[in-house]
Amino acid sequence: MAALTEVGRGRYAVIGTGSRAQSYVRALCGEHRDVAVLVALLDTNPGRLDYHEELIRGLDTGVDLPARYTDAGDVERMIEERDVRRVVVTTPDHTHADIIARALRAGADVITEKPLTTDADGTRRIVEALNETGRDLVVTFNYRYSPRNSALRELIASGAVGRVTSVSFEWVLDTQHGADYFRRWHRDKPNSGGLLVHKASHHFDLVNWWIDDVPRRVYASGALRFYGARNAAARGLTDRPARGTVDAADHDPFLLDLRRHEDLRRLYLDNEHHDGYLRDLDVFGEGITIEDNLALTVDYEGGPTLSYALNAHSPWEGYRVAVNGTEGRAELEVVERAAVAGRSAAVDPSMVKDGPADGVRESGERLVLQRHWEPARAIPIPEAEGGHGGGDAVLFRALFRGAQEDPLRRAAGVLDGIRAVSVGIAGNASLAGGRAVDIAALDLGHLDDRRGEGA
Ligand SMILES: NC(=O)c1ccc[n+]([C@@H]2O[C@H](COP(=O)([O-])OP(=O)(O)OC[C@H]3O[C@@H](n4cnc5c(N)ncnc54)[C@H](O)[C@@H]3O)[C@@H](O)[C@H]2O)c1
Repeated sequence: MAALTEVGRGRYAVIGTGSRAQSYVRALCGEHRDVAVLVALLDTNPGRLDYHEELIRGLDTGVDLPARYTDAGDVERMIEERDVRRVVVTTPDHTHADIIARALRAGADVITEKPLTTDADGTRRIVEALNETGRDLVVTFNYRYSPRNSALRELIASGAVGRVTSVSFEWVLDTQHGADYFRRWHRDKPNSGGLLVHKASHHFDLVNWWIDDVPRRVYASGALRFYGARNAAARGLTDRPARGTVDAADHDPFLLDLRRHEDLRRLYLDNEHHDGYLRDLDVFGEGITIEDNLALTVDYEGGPTLSYALNAHSPWEGYRVAVNGTEGRAELEVVERAAVAGRSAAVDPSMVKDGPADGVRESGERLVLQRHWEPARAIPIPEAEGGHGGGDAVLFRALFRGAQEDPLRRAAGVLDGIRAVSVGIAGNASLAGGRAVDIAALDLGHLDDRRGEGA
């Protein structure tokens, strides 16, 4: 991955200046401005470009404001006019394939937010552009970089559990964070691929990386059983407002009143008139086509089986993973938020990492190793710093300053991005067809061997 290790003072552009872009813009114009220069921003919503310009001014680091582009067709023009070397893609998932392929063909390397894309066609188009251009693409799996996930990888790689035979992995999203996927573009499957692609691609990447194996075959089952108009009506919840930005919304913790959250108001509510993007749709409204309860069985090339479950309306948030091996078992338990506060809990970013502790469930993390015939022992997890379980800070350092020699192999290549979405794409095919799906049958394209990724 030469482009990553020889970055120099790269010329960057960010496409899609919504919520996620803020972390990249802060990193590029703040901590990493000595090695990176943000030369352009592109978003189809001019109001969100204004928001990011203000963010940059507010950093007070003296960097020049980037050039701004507002037409989705401006990808090539922007790259040429501003001599952009690396494009960061933080647009909605269904737009990734087109933007990535165009940016590569226009001569830039690309850093894309997960998921790589939402379907088999998008994957093929990206692979074709990569083969044609030989350029570099990085999928930013920040979860790999959080110390607890790195610690589990290290433990498995050390051979402590022996050869991995199976993995059991449950992820629960709470009624604050989980509910938020049912309020905006993610709620419509063609936009996000559903939670199996949008959210679980993080989780499948973690498993692929933890056990260093390749997913082969997927059986999925699941449905929308909590959110959505039909489920709400069955529970007697009727006459709901179409959106959360209404008076007295604070009586209902599922309604998100954008006026109560300064950043969300400025980013979305104030800019609705440009494009009609509504950020606060009722989670019990019509038009939701994604699932909120999902279960998968995934067979791996090397033999192990993954049992995976995702729930998006849990009262607490976190995950439990158990890795069984020929020598014993490792268990990682993470409680990211022990409980969601009742009134007006909806999406207050300041609440993301804590919730009320009650002595029964506390926020925290625990990694345990138990080898056969031995008592269990706790494995220390290093302190985390910053967003996403400490993943973002380390990820940005690796992205913008060049990856150091990393025995944990945390920098994710194209192949990792493809393998992560391949499980969700196969899962969606399985949900549609009611039977197990071989990933090889999806025809996701073949990366040219000359790229050195071995696909
Ligand atoms: N790794 C993580 O932890 C993490 C967290 C949040 C989001 N994400 C990912 O980041 C991406 C963006 O998510 P978000 O929550 O910021 O979404 P968002 O809706 O807040 O922002 C998306 C932005 O893209 C713009 N846009 C839409 N189509 C465009 C186009 N064709 N060209 C240019 N701009 C366009 C929109 O106007 C909007 O400003 C998604 O792929 C999501 O999966 C990753």
